[in-house]
Amino acid sequence: MEDVTDTVYRRLIREWSSRAAPRATTGDDAPRPTVMFTEFTRVDAAVRTRDARASGAPGNGRLRYHESERPIVAQIWGTRPEEFRRAAAALDELRFDGIDLNMGCPVRKIRKAGACSALIERPTLAAEIIAACREGSRLPVSVKTRIGLSRVRTEEWCGFLLEQPIDALTVHPRTADQMSDGWADWREVRRVVAMRDAAAAGTVVLGNGDVRSLAHARRLVEQTGADGVMIGRGIFADPLLFARDPATSAADGAATPEWDALDPGSRLDYLEEHIRRFVGYWNTGRNYEVLKKFYRNYVPRSAAGRALLERLYETHDPDAALDEIARARRLMDA
Ligand SMILES: Cc1cc2nc3c(=O)[nH]c(=O)nc-3n(C[C@H](O)[C@H](O)[C@H](O)COP(=O)(O)O)c2cc1C
Repeated sequence: MEDVTDTVYRRLIREWSSRAAPRATTGDDAPRPTVMFTEFTRVDAAVRTRDARASGAPGNGRLRYHESERPIVAQIWGTRPEEFRRAAAALDELRFDGIDLNMGCPVRKIRKAGACSALIERPTLAAEIIAACREGSRLPVSVKTRIGLSRVRTEEWCGFLLEQPIDALTVHPRTADQMSDGWADWREVRRVVAMRDAAAAGTVVLGNGDVRSLAHARRLVEQTGADGVMIGRGIFADPLLFARDPATSAADGAATPEWDALDPGSRLDYLEEHIRRFVGYWNTGRNYEVLKKFYRNYVPRSAAGRALLERLYETHDPDAALDEIARARRLMDA
């Protein structure tokens, strides 16, 4: 997710997940998340980043990752097949584990440029982009998409994608016009799975949309037959989501109650760790303002927490935020 799951947050999610207590009731301790995706990145950034790295510069921040994030897939977007061919080769050299093509972002400016969700109505171009990535590298290629632009067109569009040489298809079952409104209609994911099965295509199908816990993810799999689940905003609602025991987390779309129940001091510990890691990694290389997206979720849900949040929103640098947190701790202890 843009300005959310940067390399710092992805690493934190991985670390916090592995700090978890063993999942005693299931004995299921598979490392989670099993695959990480970068924020979506303009297709031309891949070549520039490869070239920058050759001269020791870091290149585009969205294409930075740490070994602990593997398997790590680069998500790219654009409109020119030739750029995708060159980007695929560059991403291979940058040692990504896969390439994900964003064909779902509904943001108006991007849609107007004919990219991302606009490709739903430009299937020939979409197919050319996929073919170009195949030509450019041997990395697995996947597509993340929605089920239509203004109206639901799951059968035509996802059916078309299943005929393309892609390894995986992630379906966010909303139209682009819907943005994040209403509910993701998981029945459309089931439809895609049924089409995949009927065509005996080997494409892995992942469901996405509104999943807020591991138990909820399991429910999506049970209801749709999907091979897996992509989780976006859920990781906002509970940064320790992957550390939870699926047997005890809520299956009804509520965030895991453990996060809400966490004591104020621990919440501030996580917040502080996130800020310190952000600054330690990016220094001034990333806009401090993006961190503010996270604050609401970390601060305690109390009058003191709300007061702290207001002060945090007024800060303009990480040191000021850390001072406010220290002050809030002193008040909480008093
Ligand atoms: C702040 C934000 C940034 C996002 N950035 C991306 C992105 O870069 N690439 C992408 O495929 N989807 C992106 N999404 C969409 C999510 O990946 C996901 O498809 C959508 O939010 C529904 O799933 P969820 O309920 O699990 O979040 C973004 C969503 C949000 C809220």
